[in-house]
Amino acid sequence: MADKVRVAIIGLGFGAEFIPIYQAHPNAEIAAICRRNKKELDACGDRYGIKTRYTDYDQLLKDPNIDAVHINSPIGDHAPQSIAALKAGKHVASTVPAATTIDECKQIVEGQRKSGKVYMMMETVVYSREYLFVKELYDKGELGRIQFLRGSHQQDMEGWPGYWEGFPPMHYATHCVSPCLALLGKHAESVVCHGSGRIDEKLIPKYGSPFAIETATFKIKDSDVCAEVTRSLFNTARQYRESFDATGDKKSFEWQQVENEDPVIHTRGKPEPEIPQRVKVPDYASRLPEPIRKFTKPAAIQDAEHLSFIQGGGHGGSHPHLAHNFLMACLGKQPPMPDAATSVNWTMVGICAHQSALKGGERIQIPTF
Ligand SMILES: NC(=O)c1ccc[n+]([C@@H]2O[C@H](COP(=O)([O-])OP(=O)(O)OC[C@H]3O[C@@H](n4cnc5c(N)ncnc54)[C@H](O)[C@@H]3O)[C@@H](O)[C@H]2O)c1
Repeated sequence: MADKVRVAIIGLGFGAEFIPIYQAHPNAEIAAICRRNKKELDACGDRYGIKTRYTDYDQLLKDPNIDAVHINSPIGDHAPQSIAALKAGKHVASTVPAATTIDECKQIVEGQRKSGKVYMMMETVVYSREYLFVKELYDKGELGRIQFLRGSHQQDMEGWPGYWEGFPPMHYATHCVSPCLALLGKHAESVVCHGSGRIDEKLIPKYGSPFAIETATFKIKDSDVCAEVTRSLFNTARQYRESFDATGDKKSFEWQQVENEDPVIHTRGKPEPEIPQRVKVPDYASRLPEPIRKFTKPAAIQDAEHLSFIQGGGHGGSHPHLAHNFLMACLGKQPPMPDAATSVNWTMVGICAHQSALKGGERIQIPTF
């Protein structure tokens, strides 16, 4: 059993997409599933042949046959469930964001250090094929010196579960913050953010956040690079996109305008009309164990229970990469990426950005623990 991690999946909406991946991975088994609705829990258990089922998360944490939890519950539960799992001696994979307050971020880092267990935020973007492509270009020196980074995540959340209504856009900013920071392998130091526009009045009271769009610039520690991110969730006309651009002094990568176009590489020094070239982004499935390679492709997850999030093969083909990295970290074969300190730094850029927006654009220092 020492080379197999016994994983429990918590939350079976988006979370269910990971079940077939863990079941196929040579170093994992699904030990249990958990959701509050018994009928839905049983439907999922029957579908994937999983016998151990919990409606109560606290009971699950007492199960000695579970090594790791992969949390996919609603946002407000991520941090409390992560902190409780670390206390119970379980490895933790948590979907984004890691937390919604600075204090929770602190408790995650402290809980991880005290327990010695793995904590990893399952940030899809930094395992998407686009990110892996840009990272490869950067590591090979093809982009040259990075001069600027920009991310944007725009999504219309009208009609989604109630906890989304009026959610501060920057409280869910990791998809656009993370590629900027991961590329340089550095943390953010301080952030300035402005709110713009106004969402429907009925959406405002729940979180007290009036802004349709929040735009932040943040300073990257030990570097001269400043990055910019834009978020919107309601009352904004824009096709869904999670995107990032990396501007180098030799080459720059720019995200496509609309879905199904190819991204663009700009090369400095070429004749003007040849500067921008569309590129096909390769697939990085070969980095994975053979049995889970197929999960980078959209077709392989067509039978997943929850289809609403299947954007480009599980968020740019990221799901099997995330599961693999987490499992290898649990087995002590490589560090998690992102680790606990990095996960909360990416999360706190957004939390501090929203604080800044509420204070009219005041610069906020991002805490370190
Ligand atoms: N790209 C990404 O990284 C990405 C994409 C989609 C969703 N997500 C995240 O995944 C999370 C879940 O998204 P969703 O759309 O499936 O949400 P959802 O609200 O549809 O489903 C949440 C699930 O959690 C279960 N749940 C709720 N409270 C629980 C508890 N106390 N114990 C155990 N189970 C509990 C529910 O029964 C349900 O199965 C969200 O936080 C979202 O931010 C991330």
